[in-house]
Amino acid sequence: MSLDATLKVSIDLDDRSYDIHIASGLLELASAWQGLPRASTALIVTNDTVGPLYAQQLQRSLSAHYPKVLTLSLPDGEAYKTWETLQSIFDVLLQNACDRKTVLFALGGGVVGDITGFAAACYMRGVPFVQVPTTLLAQVDSSVGGKTAINHPIGKNMIGAFYQPERVVCDLHTLQSLPPRELSAGLAEVIKYGPIADMAFFDWIDNNLDALLAREPKALAYAVKRSCEIKAHVVGQDERESGLRAILNFGHTFGHAIEAGLGFGEWLHGEAVGCGMVMAAQLSQRLGLVDTAFTERLTQLIQRAGLPTVGPDLGVEAYLHHMRVDKKAEAGDIRFVLIDPPGSAMVRGAPDVLVAEVIQACCR
Ligand code: NAD
Ligand code: GLY
Repeated sequence: MSLDATLKVSIDLDDRSYDIHIASGLLELASAWQGLPRASTALIVTNDTVGPLYAQQLQRSLSAHYPKVLTLSLPDGEAYKTWETLQSIFDVLLQNACDRKTVLFALGGGVVGDITGFAAACYMRGVPFVQVPTTLLAQVDSSVGGKTAINHPIGKNMIGAFYQPERVVCDLHTLQSLPPRELSAGLAEVIKYGPIADMAFFDWIDNNLDALLAREPKALAYAVKRSCEIKAHVVGQDERESGLRAILNFGHTFGHAIEAGLGFGEWLHGEAVGCGMVMAAQLSQRLGLVDTAFTERLTQLIQRAGLPTVGPDLGVEAYLHHMRVDKKAEAGDIRFVLIDPPGSAMVRGAPDVLVAEVIQACCR
């Protein structure tokens, strides 16, 4: 297989444009790593779960292109998306006298991708990096679009930068080792693209969900490609989220409240987004923007994907409190991504009384 024979999605951002390559076996494909910035050193940043599975393959492939290939394995988990972990990346770079041409490779899920991207944005004021996402969520969402961040104890992803990778390399084969719960979490972000942008894709997901859950390579390839196309189209118009890009956060406002209210890590991000999409659809319905049939169809699909559709009973006040610290909130006013009509989305506020009704109807 040559790199030209793989599925490719281009993201058009002037001098920050890049390609997303999607196929099985890319980690071992020499041409997948050709044409990247040249350097004396490459640093693979991975974690203690993904490293033992895939770092050697990537190391072998990169050794054909870079004289020195270093690997740093971070502890696994959202809890480690911190300043201390970021510092450990800088420690390795400086201890090895890495210069400003050094290329960083983020091999892992969204946590590794976000922290490595942020390290690349900061080290010597910016070195090139490549996303090598190994979760479905990272392949369809977090590796694309240049949002990089670490968490602050007061809020998730609050410290970060917009910094685009040189390339995204999605090896679909890596999804075969993903725990089922993580696969479902990734499906939440795949499903999200239907209601906000493309109901034909929503129909396709509905018809092919069993194949996706069975990890059939053809189904995964199409789901990743179409998701990346939609995200690339949105990010191409609004890289820094001054407006349109916020629609990618469908389900995330309620989802954020669930994650924060239960304590981060109790539910996976994708699980909270799945349930959050049900709640956002209910709110859209109460505002007269979608009909009951749409809300029911979305709810059933989310449930079939193995995701929760009933939220935890945190109480209306707790939901409102957590939603006010969402990044979309403006001067404390909560803003929701609402569907109007299915296949397109908008960002707006909603009366507290309707939001409270949704919380009461969807949580127990
Ligand atoms: P994750 O990175 O924690 O990965 C989930 C789990 O799967 C981890 O335990 C990981 O080690 C393991 N894993 C990864 N690949 C594997 C594989 N191939 N086989 C077996 N196990 C594997 O979580 P995630 O869902 O990938 O990403 C969530 C993170 O992404 C959050 O921090 C979130 O804030 C961030 N995010 C960022 C963006 C963005 O635009 N930058 C978008 C969405 C989410
Ligand atoms: N995941 C939302 C975004 O990239 O904007």
